[in-house]
Amino acid sequence: MERALVIYYSFSGNTKELAQEFAAALQTRFQTDLVRIEALDESASFFGQARRAFFKTEARIPDTLPFDVSAYALVAVGTPVWAFGAAPAVRSWLRRSRGFNAARGVAFATYGSGAGSKKCIEEMSCLLRAKGATTVKTLLIQQAQCSQPAMMRQQCAELMRDV
Ligand SMILES: Cc1cc2nc3c(=O)[nH]c(=O)nc-3n(C[C@H](O)[C@H](O)[C@H](O)COP(=O)(O)O)c2cc1C
Repeated sequence: MERALVIYYSFSGNTKELAQEFAAALQTRFQTDLVRIEALDESASFFGQARRAFFKTEARIPDTLPFDVSAYALVAVGTPVWAFGAAPAVRSWLRRSRGFNAARGVAFATYGSGAGSKKCIEEMSCLLRAKGATTVKTLLIQQAQCSQPAMMRQQCAELMRDV
């Protein structure tokens, strides 16, 4: 069975819900690892978080995370949209990741107002392609839907037809 990695950062839990749902969907076809990225130097305030994200600052993340993804046929990376882009911890992981070896990529994100959500997912897709992912599929979910498992399950099932 091929292997898949679902790796994500989540501050308040929405992206975690989506990551868990997508990992469960993948499990039917892939041996799937689900990994949460923690920021070791998390900002204490909304403005601190937004400022760091806006200026594309990276976060300090554990060295124990899987950075070498060469064992995986599919790599899915998830982030909340922060200040129109990816969260700093995801940016850090993407920079340090290696060994894509033409793995299929998935970029997924959850968002609030929607401001910058398309820009965020496009940047994530570009970063994954630059790393060597072949196809990159995307999934964007509004935060209110993250408490509706049936809705997320349907979106994940649709994405599964593409990967
Ligand atoms: C610091 C910060 C910046 C945010 N910036 C945006 C934004 O630019 N656009 C948007 O649609 N939502 C924005 N949001 C809302 C989050 O993307 C949304 O609540 C997301 O679902 C949170 O995911 P999480 O629960 O996994 O942390 C922001 C939230 C925070 C905390």
